[in-house]
Amino acid sequence: MKRSFLVNCLIPLSVFAAILALVVMQAAPNASVRAQAATAAATMAATKATMGPTPTAMALSGDPILIGVAVAQTSDTALLGQEQVVGAKIAEAFFNQRGGVNGRPIKLVYQDAAGAPETAVNAFNALINGNVVAIIGPTLSTQARAADPVADKAGVPVLAPSNTAAGIPQIGAFVTRVSAGVAGYAPNAILVAKEINPDIKTIAVMYAQDDAFATSESKVFQTASTDLGYKLATVQTFSVKDKDFTTQISAALGANPELIIVSGLAVDGGNLVKQLRELGYKGLIIGGNGLNTANMFAVCQAQCDGVLVAQAYGPALDTAINNEFVQAYQLDQKRPQPPQFSGQMFACVQVVVESLRSLDKKGKLDLKDLPTLRKTLNDEIQAGTFDTPLGKISFTKVKKDNGDVAGGELNQQKFYVAQIKMDADGKTGLFAFVKAFDAYVAPKK
Ligand code: ALA
Repeated sequence: MKRSFLVNCLIPLSVFAAILALVVMQAAPNASVRAQAATAAATMAATKATMGPTPTAMALSGDPILIGVAVAQTSDTALLGQEQVVGAKIAEAFFNQRGGVNGRPIKLVYQDAAGAPETAVNAFNALINGNVVAIIGPTLSTQARAADPVADKAGVPVLAPSNTAAGIPQIGAFVTRVSAGVAGYAPNAILVAKEINPDIKTIAVMYAQDDAFATSESKVFQTASTDLGYKLATVQTFSVKDKDFTTQISAALGANPELIIVSGLAVDGGNLVKQLRELGYKGLIIGGNGLNTANMFAVCQAQCDGVLVAQAYGPALDTAINNEFVQAYQLDQKRPQPPQFSGQMFACVQVVVESLRSLDKKGKLDLKDLPTLRKTLNDEIQAGTFDTPLGKISFTKVKKDNGDVAGGELNQQKFYVAQIKMDADGKTGLFAFVKAFDAYVAPKK
């Protein structure tokens, strides 16, 4: 039954994908969106030729293996978390269609981690007690600092899907980061700004001082600004809860910068970008990782246009697994481009599934002995190499300040910079690819 259903679906699905791309192209209101949709159509056509292993159509049996997902489904942080849930749901269907864990299904179990450290801790505790083999989450680095130690103490592997502040894998041996730390790619956005405007001399930096990631990312941007020879004229701070940024913007504009770099989250960062434009700033803006979501378009609307963002996922990466992921996303979401937060979440689920498959093949997958399985799964994850939509990734063991061996830091090769292009209606838009980069290395002094 199952086999014939899947086989029958494969050809109509690819035809449907091509039709969908054409519909998106026709409906796209401006030239840049049409160009992106055309690329999506080309990707879909190419996908037919480059697709990796087709679904095995293997009938799944046995109790599902539970994998926890604790990201923000409510609060302002849900602007990022919603994209993570999309990536998780696509991954669950994708890997179950391809045989799950050697014939056994996976099931993702969701707990809303919302936007605060305490809510993330509650979500983690519920999942730990809910017999999951691993937890993917939380959304924010600020939350990871509170919740990851709880899972680490309980011996439950944590995959950090979007926690990009410095020091995340150092939290403990059970923490593995699938989201590249900001130091490795955020400054690439400054390199692109320099190409767009070679006359940049003065930079202003603004960051949310009550957010761990924004603080960490801002330090990276500040150091890179001076390393790359610019005058860092002013550093302004705000809160992720702020709505009015007039004071900080007046101070920043007083320094006459040609580039302003904003490290915050989607709502505060989006409002800050909007108010910078409303108060007359015409120069380039770089937004950090917290602004790397189309969900921010509703906040800054037309004023989002032109913002440069460094990214750890690029939809254009031409590999079999990424083409399959892009196709699955387009079919599911009816949009041309998967965002970074969905791509990183998909990669997290893939890392867990492939590690479980590998343990199973070695005869080490015993769901009745959950503590041992969680430990062996953690070791398998941190020793593995995975061909994901982010490219080939692996992990390096890091040390804590006291010298103890801690978790796994991500090794990732390719990064990207995109620029936001808003449509004339100021409601829709996209992140237009500008350039791919290797990991950022600071210039020698
Ligand atoms: N990258 C952001 C963080 O680490 C979402 O908090």
